[in-house]
This record gives sequence, C-alpha cells and structure tokens, in this order.
Amino acid sequence: MGLKESSTEGVESMYSNLVGVHKRIWKATGNQSIHYGYYEDDDDDMDTASTRMMELVADTVDIDRHSRVLVLGCGAGEDAIWIADEFDAEVVGVDLIEDQIELAREYAWKRNVEDLVTFHTDDFHELSSASDGSFDVVWALESVSHSDNLEAVVDQCDRVLSEQGQIVFADWFAPDDSMSDSEEKRLRKLDNLMRQWTDTLDEVESTVAAGGFDDFTAVDVTDGVRPAVSRRYKSSFIMIPFYTVASAIGLASAELRDVTKASYHMHVLVRDDVMRYYILSAS
Ligand SMILES: C[S@@+](CC[C@H](N)C(=O)[O-])C[C@H]1O[C@@H](n2cnc3c(N)ncnc32)[C@H](O)[C@@H]1O
Repeated sequence: MGLKESSTEGVESMYSNLVGVHKRIWKATGNQSIHYGYYEDDDDDMDTASTRMMELVADTVDIDRHSRVLVLGCGAGEDAIWIADEFDAEVVGVDLIEDQIELAREYAWKRNVEDLVTFHTDDFHELSSASDGSFDVVWALESVSHSDNLEAVVDQCDRVLSEQGQIVFADWFAPDDSMSDSEEKRLRKLDNLMRQWTDTLDEVESTVAAGGFDDFTAVDVTDGVRPAVSRRYKSSFIMIPFYTVASAIGLASAELRDVTKASYHMHVLVRDDVMRYYILSAS
C-alpha cells in the first residue's frame, strides 16, 4: 500500500512537543499512559480503560515473575511499570524521547517498582541497550506503527528474544487493502499527521513470518476502543480552527495542531472500518 516515508525525526519532534499536553492529561487521569483504553461501559474512566487494555495485551503472551519483558516505545512508563507491578516481572522500557524516559524513571520510584524496571533512551530499530537472547517477551503497545521499517524492528525482536520468546504488538492496522482511493488518501493523511504508518494485517503477518516468528494470532478489540476514538474526536474537533490559527502565529506547535486534526480522520476511518485495533502476537 504505497511508499513509506522516513518518520523517526518526525516522531521525536511530535512526542517531544507533546510532553506538556500529556502531563496535563496525566494529571486528570491519574496515570501516565499514551495509549487507547478499552471500554466495557461508555462511562468507564480513562484509567480503568487504559489498565484493561494492558490486561488484554498481557493475556495474549506468557508473563510471570520469572519473565524478562522488553517494552518498545514505553513513553512515560505506564505499560512497563504496570507489567512489573502486576507480574513482579523484570522489565526494560525503551523510548526515543529522553524527557519521557526521565518521567518514567520518576514514576517507577513513585509506584515502588524501581528495583524491577529500568529505562533506556533507545531506538527500537537498533536496540543498542539490549543484548542477544536476553528477553522472554517483547511488548509494543501503540509504538511500532511509528516505524517506517517494521522489518528492522522484527529482526531486533528476534535478536533480543530467547528461543521460546514471544512478541506482542497492539495497535491500529488496516484489516485488508480493499479500501477505496479516497479512504486510502484519508488513511495516509492520518499517517502523516500522526508520524506513523498503518500496515495491513497481511503485511504485518508476512514481515513477522519473514523474521522467523510463527503462530501469528490477531485479536480484534476495536469495539472496546471505539468510545475512546469518539471521546478524542468530540473533545478535539472544535479546537481544530483554534490550533490551526495558533500554530500559524507561533502560539501552538504544529504537532498539537496535527494530532487535533488527526482525531477527525481517525473517527471517520474507524467508523468506516478502514482501520481496526488488533492485538497481534507470535512466537
Ligand atoms: C503512543 S505512545 C505509547 C507509549 C506507551 N507504550 C504507552 O502505552 O503509554 C508511542 C511511543 O513510541 C515511541 N517511539 C516511536 N518510535 C520509536 C522508536 N523508533 N524507538 C523507540 N521509541 C519509539 C514514542 O516516542 C512514544 O513514546
């Protein structure tokens, strides 16, 4: 589906510029997640929904207190810290953004898991902080969609995992490539705004298989995530004109304008089933 554009610099700039906005959200929600929640009830709060998503991801792989888990794109640490706290497992979180890694370290102290979790600034295409065969599970919650080279990420997963190691990628993917031209145009617009690339399930499955992983499983959890997409859209839509003007006169970042605009395209694409949320695992 088209040509991927290099995105690492764009991703760095986006998350660095959004740290202030994320801090305000975390203050309101009481956790430090940067992922979609899974809603069983429309009036679930964001913390409950965010934790439920991590539980669903964890259900697809084997994690216990003897496991070593590598979290790719750990953001400000929510998923890495939750895994350590929930399973007593040893966890390493990596992310591109130094500021987020600092926040993750402070958060691990607050949550009393600093002995179980370590954080490194690292690019998941390189994983220079991780040694060969040293992990049981590689976990990526809404991070590998930012890759313009999933093959390199999968090769790194293969390198750092033990013989029986498992991967789990939870994210938005296109169920197939049967979309119309206008849907594909909208999808690529969203990808540009979010500094990401949305692959089809088949593309991910072949990349993962080429990297030496079998038993590819896809769990579709879209319906539980729809309320989150709709909330983001409703709270952002009226702000689009404001951030468009504010970014033009230097009062808001282009990244804040873009993620606000993205919420509208996301709403349309999810409503029309052009993209769906899957938890993909393989071993
Ligand atoms: C949507 S956030 C998810 C954060 C975290 N997993 C969570 O659930 O809160 C995606 C994260 O992936 C990180 N990321 C994107 N590309 C990366 C790369 N090449 N290497 C490491 N981290 C990356 C971003 O910096 C961002 O923190």
